[in-house]
Amino acid sequence: MKKIYLVFIFIFFNIKCENICVLGTGYVGLITGAVLADIGHTVICADINQKRIENLNNGIIPIYEDGLSKVLQNNFEKSIFFTANISSAIQKSTIIYITVGTPPLPNGEADLSAIFNVCEKIIENLNEHKTIIIKSTIPPGTCNKILAYFKNKKVEVNTFDIIFNPEFLREGRALYDCQNPDRIVIGSRVRKDARIQKTINNLYQSYINQKVPILYTTLTTAEMIKYASNTFLALKVSFINEIANLCDINGSNIKDISQAMGLDERIGQHFLNAGPGFGGSCFPKDLSAIITLANKLNVKLLTAQAAVDANINQRKIPYQKLKKALGNLKGKKICLLGVSFKANTDDIRDSISLEIVPQLLKESSIPRIYDLIAQSNFKKIYPSLEYYQDIYDAVEGADALLVLTENSEFTRFDYGKIANLMNKKILIDCRNIIPQNILKQYNFYYDSIGNGSSHNQDSN
Ligand code: UGA
Repeated sequence: MKKIYLVFIFIFFNIKCENICVLGTGYVGLITGAVLADIGHTVICADINQKRIENLNNGIIPIYEDGLSKVLQNNFEKSIFFTANISSAIQKSTIIYITVGTPPLPNGEADLSAIFNVCEKIIENLNEHKTIIIKSTIPPGTCNKILAYFKNKKVEVNTFDIIFNPEFLREGRALYDCQNPDRIVIGSRVRKDARIQKTINNLYQSYINQKVPILYTTLTTAEMIKYASNTFLALKVSFINEIANLCDINGSNIKDISQAMGLDERIGQHFLNAGPGFGGSCFPKDLSAIITLANKLNVKLLTAQAAVDANINQRKIPYQKLKKALGNLKGKKICLLGVSFKANTDDIRDSISLEIVPQLLKESSIPRIYDLIAQSNFKKIYPSLEYYQDIYDAVEGADALLVLTENSEFTRFDYGKIANLMNKKILIDCRNIIPQNILKQYNFYYDSIGNGSSHNQDSN
């Protein structure tokens, strides 16, 4: 229905469906490509990773993201194509999205080599005017470096446009975020350039129709918006985690505090869930990049640094709580619920589990892993741990349960059955998702993040 409506909009408003290529088939590239194809554009997704392209052409998707496989399937070889032939993809397209990775370097800066490699490819294949839209997260000032790079290579300035259009996708609900953005940010050489506005109107007509605000700005400002947004969100998480730690000491309740704070419109309800500290491929990397950049410019980002420092502290807490509950961990069977960096993703980058498991192994305890979405990725790093497909097998004879992600599935388990199967009824909920009344009913020793002191009930 939605699709018919969109097609109607394209016809009615005489909107041109663009030929688009997306360079890089990682997280951002695949989501962007899938959504653009779904709203009627023709999209070629290109990547130098031949195996990845071969897999995509065989319907094997390299990441887990709810709904993605269906959208790709619906549009496959109708409006979305996959190729390892970067040159041909560029030549066939008027709009080129850059969605390659910008991983952190050892010194904290973002590695921009993939960005410049694709720029080189674009220059080699500049057969007609191209609009280059960068979605990869790049430190402020990078687009200007790209412009200088094009200039050095003697590329005529009127043969290309560069736009920085940051993404604000959350893993686990990236498709939804891409289809329903809060705002679209368009940075360009000349703010609100008429040609660029026309291109954006064509590309994003469906968003314009949804009345999504489009903000036109300069390249560097758009780059800053991305970093400022992630830094602020990380700061919010670190703030609530510190308040939660205080709650643990003075017996107050973080969930009630978050709810009450969130009802203040100036604060807002999102990103006030206390937990084991933020992880993933974005916050840690982006904070490190913006702090490093600011230092170079002799500017102190004290609050961003505080968010990082608080996070380092926060990530020690699950383990400390486990030690408090169990004492000596030697030989203890610890069941980890969730090993990704958050719920509904198979991404384990910078996840808390990657810090806890080595500590558990060092203390000769026996980690058991339960995470139906992410455990295959975890297995690549720790092949010889115990992995379970059934929660009741996982908890049989276990000495503690450690909840590390907020998967809603964990709230639906039969905790009466779990209590009967465990060796010790210890549950440490680092996401505050398991209803306490249920755990009380079955006499669990229960601890969480910021719900007052641990409830020391009969743990045997
Ligand atoms: C984040 C941003 O939310 C996106 O807007 C942005 O586009 C993306 O980075 C990016 O730069 O690509 P993501 O890293 O996928 O998205 O995940 P988030 O939902 O932001 O969570 C980040 C971390 O904070 C996770 O470890 C999560 O568990 C933690 N978190 C988040 C909390 O502990 N509490 C909260 O209330 C929210």
